[in-house]
Amino acid sequence: MKVTVVGAGAVGASCAEYIAIKNFASEVVLLDIKEGFAEGKAMDLMQTASLNGFDTKITGVTNDYSKTAGSDVVVITSGIPRKPGMTREELIGINAGIVKSVSASLIQHSPDAIIIVVSNPMDTMAYLVHKTTGLPRTRIIGMGGALDSARFKYRLAEALECPISDVDGMVIGQHSDKGMIPLTRFATRNSIPVTRFLSQERLNQVAEDTKVGGATLTKLLGTSAWYAPGAAVSGMVQAIACDQKKMFPCSTYLQGEYGLNDLCIGVPVILGKNGIEKIVELELTETEKEKMKTSAEAIKKTNGLLTI
Ligand code: 2OP
Repeated sequence: MKVTVVGAGAVGASCAEYIAIKNFASEVVLLDIKEGFAEGKAMDLMQTASLNGFDTKITGVTNDYSKTAGSDVVVITSGIPRKPGMTREELIGINAGIVKSVSASLIQHSPDAIIIVVSNPMDTMAYLVHKTTGLPRTRIIGMGGALDSARFKYRLAEALECPISDVDGMVIGQHSDKGMIPLTRFATRNSIPVTRFLSQERLNQVAEDTKVGGATLTKLLGTSAWYAPGAAVSGMVQAIACDQKKMFPCSTYLQGEYGLNDLCIGVPVILGKNGIEKIVELELTETEKEKMKTSAEAIKKTNGLLTI
């Protein structure tokens, strides 16, 4: 299993590290445009191999896509991250050109690869990749919901004062501060609905804290987060690599599902060796449907800024 990660910045390098530590990939190629940067990160990571106990071979390359040839999964993290006070959508001007060029170069050398898009604004970047590469929608996966759901579980456990391993929850919709939809109705603590333990007011606060999870960290860090995004991607890559048939909320190109068409938006899907193997259609309440519609409208507005 060969994986390429484009962008050796904090997110890309964390992604490569977590994939290596999980030890399911034979090779991870880390690519960046900055001379020597990916080579340095890869060498530093390889020097943890005996310490972290992995056999995955991580190699770094500077802008040489021939070294990514034959990748099974490619992850696009390249582009600029947010600064405090910015929305993800404000990154479109610079990141769209980068993502369009990177995806074309990747597919030229790995025509059968499954693409995971991380660069923001992620739902729109996934849509751009869909429109410019012409790949089947099963092979273009936006990473947002897996990260947002991890933040949702973090906030749920905080409110419940319980181990995070006791909670489950999912976030769908746009990967954005306003368009995210934490599904509080479905959230559980040891299979018991969390509404049994938390007031609606407290649960609403958990949802609001989840939605601004990225912005909260950007304010603290001065840049976008990287550990949780990297870990979220590595779980998705593992589900594909090991054909786990695992469910994740992923930004997916919809063709009528959830009553939506011609956009990428976060919905529950089953990930396996073929990428998106099934889109799971939940029975949403009228309120949830309205939120999904609003979220989709926001994504389409950002998509409209693209010059494809
Ligand atoms: C985040 O929410 C980078 O969009 C990513 O942290």
